[in-house]
Amino acid sequence: MVQIVYLNGQFLPLEEARIPVLDRGFIFGDGVYEVIPVYSHHPFRLQDHLKRLQHSLDGIRLANPYKDAEWDALVKELIACNEGEDQYLYLHITRGVARRDHAFPKNTPPTVFMMSSPLLPPDPTLRQNGVAAITATDNRWLRCDIKAISLLPNVLLRQQAVDAGTAETLMLRDGFLSEGSASNIFVVKDSILLAPPKGPLMLPGITYDVVLELAAANGVMFHVEPVPECTLRSADEIWLTSSTREILPITHLDGQAVGSGAPGPLYRKLDRLYQDYKATIMRQPAS
Ligand code: PDD
Repeated sequence: MVQIVYLNGQFLPLEEARIPVLDRGFIFGDGVYEVIPVYSHHPFRLQDHLKRLQHSLDGIRLANPYKDAEWDALVKELIACNEGEDQYLYLHITRGVARRDHAFPKNTPPTVFMMSSPLLPPDPTLRQNGVAAITATDNRWLRCDIKAISLLPNVLLRQQAVDAGTAETLMLRDGFLSEGSASNIFVVKDSILLAPPKGPLMLPGITYDVVLELAAANGVMFHVEPVPECTLRSADEIWLTSSTREILPITHLDGQAVGSGAPGPLYRKLDRLYQDYKATIMRQPAS
């Protein structure tokens, strides 16, 4: 299967896509990205992803190269060019190619890259049995709401999880839960779902929004409020959410069982609601 990507106005095989070494994404990590799941050829919550992309671009003071309708058309063409009902799209925009200088270059077009990869649903045994996670200090910058391509702290934090034989690192900043290295985190305490509030210290996840919408629509009590470390450590349930991992229960944290050590009842309920919601998206006629 030839993987087709988009680079600066052209659709071409991945192997033929090239960018100059002076691209500011390569030199400085000066760019932003999005990850969009595609189910049965339908991009999931595309408008929300484009809105967050605009927020990230505004955050780094880079003009959006395309209008939403243009993104929409490009995304749909990329999906059509690639095999697979379920895909995940990666969109990446950098401040372009210029002589190395920290300050913004003048009159430099951005680099726009998009690729599609097969989207594999999370292994059912992980949804069945849960995953383990560790905690670490959130040592990232103070604009974690920008989906920046400079992900070195996230990379190091995720590797810490892998080295510990676990699936994710949950970050704590000043005694409060922020998020995972590549996911948002929810906690259940005394049958109430708790979600850290959006703000500059975490990425506003699209899956996070879907979970809260489903909770609100289905009578699940939830509070969006800062989650202190002691609540995290005494939680009845902990979940991680992301576009590629959906909702996964964390059943062990730092080697201790979370609640009963098995996925809890509220997880089962929200996961079912999420799967049903996904199924309704997949049944919609392609636009
Ligand atoms: N990451 N927080 C961080 C730091 C993330 O990197 C992600 C997702 C999320 C969840 O956001 P969403 O529900 O919109 O996927 C939260 C993607 C999947 C990635 O970088 O590959």
